[in-house]
Amino acid sequence: MLFPPLIDKSMLSQTQFILRNNEIAEVHFATEADLEAIIQIQRECYDGQAPWGRIAVHSELNKRTSFFLICHHIGLPIAFIGVSLRHESVHVTNIATIPAYQKHGLATFLMQMAAAVGKQLDRTMMTLEVRMSNEGAKRLYRKIGFQDGRIKRNYYHNNGEDALDMSISLDKLDEYHDVQQVK
Ligand SMILES: CC(C)(COP(=O)(O)OP(=O)(O)OC[C@H]1O[C@@H](n2cnc3c(N)ncnc32)[C@H](O)[C@@H]1OP(=O)(O)O)[C@@H](O)C(=O)NCCC(=O)NCCS
Repeated sequence: MLFPPLIDKSMLSQTQFILRNNEIAEVHFATEADLEAIIQIQRECYDGQAPWGRIAVHSELNKRTSFFLICHHIGLPIAFIGVSLRHESVHVTNIATIPAYQKHGLATFLMQMAAAVGKQLDRTMMTLEVRMSNEGAKRLYRKIGFQDGRIKRNYYHNNGEDALDMSISLDKLDEYHDVQQVK
C-alpha cells in the first residue's frame, strides 16, 4: 500500500460493550482475518444473502479511507459497521447486528464509536442511505438524531427501491447518551 491507513488502533476509545445480560462484547477494527465473519453476520441479517460480497468487503478492508468495526461475544461475531471516510463526513456503508443480539444497543454503540474515530480525523458529519422500506433502521437512525435528507429514486439495483439520505452532525451524535453500556 502506497500510503498508510488513516486509522490506527489507538483511535478506538472503548473496546468493550456490556450486553443486557451484563456479559461483555469486544469491539475492534476489522482486518482481513474478519472477512468471513462480516459475510457471516450479513447472511444472518439478510435471509442468507450478503449484500456486500467477499470482493467488495475485501476491497473496503484494504482502502486507506475505509474501516470496519466488528463486535464478538464469546468468540461469536455478532455485529459490524462499515465506514467510508469522505471529504467532510463519515459515511456508513453497512451496519448489521445478528438477530439474537439486536436491541441491545450494539448498532448505536458502533455508530458512536465510528463517529468518535471520524472526529479524530476532522470529519464533521455522519451520513448514510437507507432503504425506504427498512423501518427498523430508519427508527434507529431517527432515535439517535439523524435527519431525513433527499430521496434517491430507484437507488437499489436489485429491486429498484428508493433510498433515503440521512445525516447528523458528529457533535449532535455525541449528545445522544442513551447507550451508557460502555467500558
Ligand atoms: C438495524 C440494525 C442494524 C439495528 O441493530 P441493533 O443493534 O438492534 O440496534 P440498537 O439496539 O442500537 O437499536 C436502538 C434503537 O433503534 C430502534 N430499532 C432498532 N432495530 C429496530 C427494529 N428492527 N424495529 C424497530 N426499531 C428498531 C429502536 O428504537 C431501538 O431502541 P430500543 O431497543 O430501545 O427500542 C439491525 O436490526 C440489523 O442488523 N438489521 C438488518 C440489517 C440492516 O437493515 N442494516 C441497516 C442497513 S441501512
